[in-house]
Amino acid sequence: MKNKELSKKPWGGRFTEQTAATAETFSASIHFDLRLYRHDIAGSKAHAKMLANVGLISDSELEQILGGLTEIESEIESNTFVFRPELEDIHMNIEKALVEKVGSAGEKLHTARSRNDQVALDIRLYLREVSRQLIGLLENLQKGFVLLAREYLGCIMPGYTHLQRAQPVLLSHHLLAYFEMFKRDKERLSDCLKRINVLPLGSAALAGTSLPIDRDFVARELGFPEISANSMDAVSDRDFIVEFLAACGLIQVHLSRFSEELILWTSQEFGFAEIADRYCTGSSIMPQKKNPDMPELIRGKSGRVTGNLVAVMTLLKGLPLTYNRDLQEDKEPVFDTVDTVSQSLTVMAEVLTGLSFDRETLHQATDTGFMTATDLAEYLVRKNIPFRQAHAIVGKAVAYSIESSKELTDLTLEELQDFHPEISEDVFVVLESGGSVNSRDTYGGTAIAQVKKSLEKAETDLGIE
Ligand code: ARG
Repeated sequence: MKNKELSKKPWGGRFTEQTAATAETFSASIHFDLRLYRHDIAGSKAHAKMLANVGLISDSELEQILGGLTEIESEIESNTFVFRPELEDIHMNIEKALVEKVGSAGEKLHTARSRNDQVALDIRLYLREVSRQLIGLLENLQKGFVLLAREYLGCIMPGYTHLQRAQPVLLSHHLLAYFEMFKRDKERLSDCLKRINVLPLGSAALAGTSLPIDRDFVARELGFPEISANSMDAVSDRDFIVEFLAACGLIQVHLSRFSEELILWTSQEFGFAEIADRYCTGSSIMPQKKNPDMPELIRGKSGRVTGNLVAVMTLLKGLPLTYNRDLQEDKEPVFDTVDTVSQSLTVMAEVLTGLSFDRETLHQATDTGFMTATDLAEYLVRKNIPFRQAHAIVGKAVAYSIESSKELTDLTLEELQDFHPEISEDVFVVLESGGSVNSRDTYGGTAIAQVKKSLEKAETDLGIE
């Protein structure tokens, strides 16, 4: 070796110059991929066990490798490990440290392995872990919605379309709509886990290896139910990352939609709800202010989470097979999404624990805005009047009420009968919001009987007593 310094790079054999400082700084990923150290070590341990099992390394070499890797892991955890940016990434930092600890046994670890299949393995192990954590956080949030739905069961509020008062609904029905959204989010992550949970190791650089490896052994060691079927696909596939980022994108969008509702509901214009002081902030100039910053930030962060999905889609778009260094750019969007979505789920679940509703204001809001007009039309349908005619008749009644500054409930029976002679005394039940809500008693509707069933099902799903 002419230049001792050159030997520092594990791949330095054919090089005659040092890497330029700019190139080294530009290409290093250690400052973010160090997050994968546990997964890298777990993957290396499984790989080493396999190498020993097929006779590519001896049992004593295996012992040294396992011992060295365990030491490195505890050094990283106790912050005594020195990360070296000139070693680019987490894979080479750990490998180099291992060689320094155990010598030639360490130099055998990378047998039949490339960083291409190694990094694919690490990110899959990482995503498998965080997907499960996110499912747990989603469940915790769902629990918050269920507990509120239970607490406020029977409370009536306006349901909206176009943000205009539409029909009275139960607050619990509204809250359980979010239970459903987050249920789908869990399903999406579970489904995505099927594609994440595939072992790429053994693909080597791109074409497999001539050495007698045992991929099934590694899959069993690491708990992968499946092994990648094509080495070229395995080292360049990041579809599972796109799926994961899309699933997370939707989680954040759901959180953002609820945030928007909280921001509206807690405004003085609505006055429907109040967020506990501990999750609000004040103004540095206006002493009276209490601002819903947590939902605002959650809503705001949906921008970066959506952006991360677009970033990785764009990253993959022009890539020929197989591994290209571009793929290193997959990690920061993933980490940022994981951090953002985890924190948002955690904060929102806490905000729910400190959320209270003003039952009176919610109920009163259903008294105005002709919210039972549809009920009156359906009442006429039950009297055998075709729906389109019923719609027109009620439209006239609404116009009359607006003209005379009244609500439908203020009209006398005689006034109502002017619009249709079939209208009789029993009409007043459907004109009142409680009667209106409970009449929508079909599966998935807002009647209390239906909502109770949904609530019970949700409680069983989550194992809530
Ligand atoms: N740091 C790299 C990445 O994240 C690891 C794989 C490097 N492979 C290579 N052939 N340079 O993608």
